[in-house]
Amino acid sequence: MADTSQAAQAATKWRKKRGSLIMALHEIQDVKGYVDWQDAVDLAKGMNIPLARIYEVLTFYNFFKLKAPGKAVISVCTGTACYLKGNDKVLEKFKSELGINEGESTKDGLFHLQCVRCVGCCGLAPVCVVNGKTYGRMTPENVPEILNEWREAFKED
Ligand code: FES
Repeated sequence: MADTSQAAQAATKWRKKRGSLIMALHEIQDVKGYVDWQDAVDLAKGMNIPLARIYEVLTFYNFFKLKAPGKAVISVCTGTACYLKGNDKVLEKFKSELGINEGESTKDGLFHLQCVRCVGCCGLAPVCVVNGKTYGRMTPENVPEILNEWREAFKED
């Protein structure tokens, strides 16, 4: 499901700053793992930029992913606060539980694992975000629980 609030938040933050479209797009992708059509529509509305311009930027830079690389995109924050509080160990646990490296997806297409810069909630460090849902004060022990939570959620689909 598209997390439109992320695009709306980014639009509010970057609206008045010149040349900020790419920053807004980066911010959405950092949290969600991709920028889809609905994000582009929300951003166009929120930043008052033509939709065609946003699509031009999205398709020009192949850095941007236009659709979810997995049903659940797991973003492990590797910003300073999270790193200092041990998110490297959390990342290792995700890798070993899923049998993939960062930047990869599981064969069943359920999970994609990525590292992102500060997601803006350092007070909750170390932080991970899964499909826009934030998990604070993470420990490696929380990882299996979070994976199960999402596996269960997909069973209901
Ligand atoms: S460094 Fe991780 S939320 Fe800021």
